[in-house]
Amino acid sequence: MMETTLIILKPDAVQRGLMGKIITRFEDKGLQIVGCKLMKISPDLAARHYEAHKERGFYSGLVKFMTSSPVLVLVVRGIGSIAISRKMMGATFGSKAESGTIRGDFGVSNSFNLIHGSDSPEAAARELELFFGKGEVMEFSRAGEAWVYDSSSGKAE
Ligand code: RTP
Ligand code: MG
Repeated sequence: MMETTLIILKPDAVQRGLMGKIITRFEDKGLQIVGCKLMKISPDLAARHYEAHKERGFYSGLVKFMTSSPVLVLVVRGIGSIAISRKMMGATFGSKAESGTIRGDFGVSNSFNLIHGSDSPEAAARELELFFGKGEVMEFSRAGEAWVYDSSSGKAE
């Protein structure tokens, strides 16, 4: 299924100059970037974004981290892009994430873990609305699309 997911390159990724390398991974994979915004997350937005974790011990540190410096927010589209992006990110903690994943290759910290990705279609829809207004997510077809997906059966796969 064609999906659109929200990716956040967290403050550590921006501060460490890793934006380009991480974006390249999504582009190299064949996923399409249809939205992009460099912004400082307000405490209110961080609270809404991570509301599911409100009762967790790490919550206040998480909000402090996410609001400490600008982030780059991306909208990424592709068939199965939610699960594919989560797989590319790797396990939550940099110390545990497999090599070959973004968290596994670029970080060692548990809480400074470089990247966020929506974890379900419901989360993606909710988070996209938090970060992007109407007209900020682009609809455009890529010139090379015919070589990203096999459409010979009539259905892209
Ligand atoms: P994210 O939501 O940021 O994409 O990360 P995730 O799904 O892999 O992990 P999640 O369980 O949703 O946790 C959200 C973020 O909270 C921080 N965290 N710290 N110190 C801790 O025990 C702990 N646990 C989670 C991480 O920054 C994690 O990405
Ligand atoms: Mg999560």
